[in-house]
Amino acid sequence: MDYETPQFFRVMKYASEADRDVVDMVSGSPDWEPPEALREGLHTYADATPGEFQYQASVGLPELREEIAARRGVERSQVIITNGTGEANHLAMTEGYRTMPGEEILLVDPVYPYYAGRASIIGADASYVPVDETGHLDPDTVAEYAGAETSVIVINSPNNPLGVTYDADTIRAVVEIAEENDAVLLSDEVYDHFDYADRFASVLSVDSPNRIVTNAYSKSMAITGWRVGYAVFPHPDGPNGELMERARTRHMLTNVTGSRPAQTAVLHALRNTGPEYYEATRELLTDRIEAITAALDGVGAEYTEPEGAFYVMARFPDYPGTFDNVERLIDEAGVAGMPGEAFGQSRAEWIRFALVTPRVETAAERLEAFFHE
Ligand SMILES: Cc1ncc(COP(=O)(O)O)c(C=O)c1O
Repeated sequence: MDYETPQFFRVMKYASEADRDVVDMVSGSPDWEPPEALREGLHTYADATPGEFQYQASVGLPELREEIAARRGVERSQVIITNGTGEANHLAMTEGYRTMPGEEILLVDPVYPYYAGRASIIGADASYVPVDETGHLDPDTVAEYAGAETSVIVINSPNNPLGVTYDADTIRAVVEIAEENDAVLLSDEVYDHFDYADRFASVLSVDSPNRIVTNAYSKSMAITGWRVGYAVFPHPDGPNGELMERARTRHMLTNVTGSRPAQTAVLHALRNTGPEYYEATRELLTDRIEAITAALDGVGAEYTEPEGAFYVMARFPDYPGTFDNVERLIDEAGVAGMPGEAFGQSRAEWIRFALVTPRVETAAERLEAFFHE
């Protein structure tokens, strides 16, 4: 698989050019409303003085860094505001690879393809830890794959593409594996608000100088187009402190800084949005999960139990999730998902559906009709 060419666009293009109505469940862009306070914050910013339209500190709006640090139980000096989780992951992977002694980056299979593409462009060797049958990560398997050659271990929970969430024991064990191998653990927690099984544990719950946590408001506030995320690095004055300094420099030389209106509005939204906003989103998604899994049960498909994020990955009897079969599903059923082979080897026969459309029920009905024929 050539991970440097994202396959999402290929499937989305095929679906948009189809000669029929298609329910698009390809990529992970939320279809629901952002918090009200976010729109309010942006409206207010439109009337700011010209001075407030100029550069801010490269590492991000000080009040936003402070707010994040307080919420996450870390110091402000550990937080860098980035252009989404994407940039945060890039800083963490590149600087982890450059700083730690190993030459290899350890990823999980199935993989979020951007990790694999990034490992490739920075010239790192990538090695893939397979998940267990239930889609979870077994720390003993991670320990088998990790070694002196490992510089960065990348995990993502709640997980894209599988929709599983790792428990606190797994998280603790993987931090220890990173420490034992003089590696850093990069934990991408962009789906932390989408935890339906009450299972999510942040890597920030385990104190260690070998952890980097990345996150964003892209999914939790339904603003993938705004590009506001962050990374929490080891304390700059402690062990592995140079990671933060190097990430700051790379961020500055690449972006100068991030978007000030977006960061200001996110800060306003953080301060003025209650838990009921996130609860309502989870309820919406729980209904969608029920609709799609009922259809999958109905046609005898195997699927990974959705515990988090907003994806369901399934294997249909005698219908491997290849690009050809996904295109056939678009043409003949009117449902677009992502081929499992885009995410590596271990779920190559599966298809991933992103539940970010109000038409999940229609998709469920169409899948039932198609596979019952
Ligand atoms: C696991 C994972 N990490 C990162 C991203 C990108 O997040 P952002 O839009 O905040 O850069 C995505 C987007 O789908 C994702 O699934």
